Amino acid sequence: MAGKFISFEGIDGSGKSTQSALLADALSATGHDVVRTREPGGSPGAEDIRRLLVEGDPGRWSAETEILLFTAARRDHLERLIEPALTEGKLVISDRFADSTRVYQGATRGDLRGMVDDLHARMIGREPDLTLVIDMDPTQALSRGLARDSGEDRFEDFGLSFQQKLRAGFLSLTKDFGTRVHVINGDQSQDRVATDVLEVVKAHMS
Ligand code: ADP
Ligand code: TYD
Repeated sequence: MAGKFISFEGIDGSGKSTQSALLADALSATGHDVVRTREPGGSPGAEDIRRLLVEGDPGRWSAETEILLFTAARRDHLERLIEPALTEGKLVISDRFADSTRVYQGATRGDLRGMVDDLHARMIGREPDLTLVIDMDPTQALSRGLARDSGEDRFEDFGLSFQQKLRAGFLSLTKDFGTRVHVINGDQSQDRVATDVLEVVKAHMS
């Protein structure tokens, strides 16, 4: 039995990890075998690559180098964690996947989307079954994100106009992947967002 693969996407601080945890709890409580994971990271090798990407100066890597590093991390995550779990019939929930590379690397510092898509086709070659984009105002999300003081703020440090470009990029994913990508209003209480998420997931599963 093949499992299901659900991803959460959105700008920094929009509430993805909060919502992926709430969804994992709700689905586990109804008997699903859930594996919750994240990108960049999710496997030991990919977590090593994560540290190179999320710490340090914004200009530490070019967008082109980032495409290679994020894709290398994703390939390891896919081989070691996602594909084995799906083969065992599990439900995988990932905080970010390839749509983040399409938007963060493909559409913010020049038009590199073709390069992202080519590498994705050669090295990854799969999409989630369902993607939930948590959408909200970047000003508020940025202050939520930076308030965490996680030391992983390299992308937040690109500033507000970068986050505004990201928001537009995530919203435009519905044009390319209409049936897979659903936009959720993240500017509500955590419980209201979770209810909206669960509604979309249940509709998809039935
Ligand atoms: P992301 O994973 O998208 O970066 P998080 O889930 O870590 O976002 O949330 C960022 C911060 O905002 C956290 O401190 C979290 O507790 C808080 N938060 C998440 N969802 C909401 C919400 N709906 N309303 C208010 N604060 C929220
Ligand atoms: P994450 O820990 O999800 O950050 P946040 O909790 O702030 O949303 O991801 C780390 C950073 O990596 C985040 O700023 C987005 C960025 N990123 C990319 O630029 N490209 C990618 O392909 C991925 C997966 C993440």
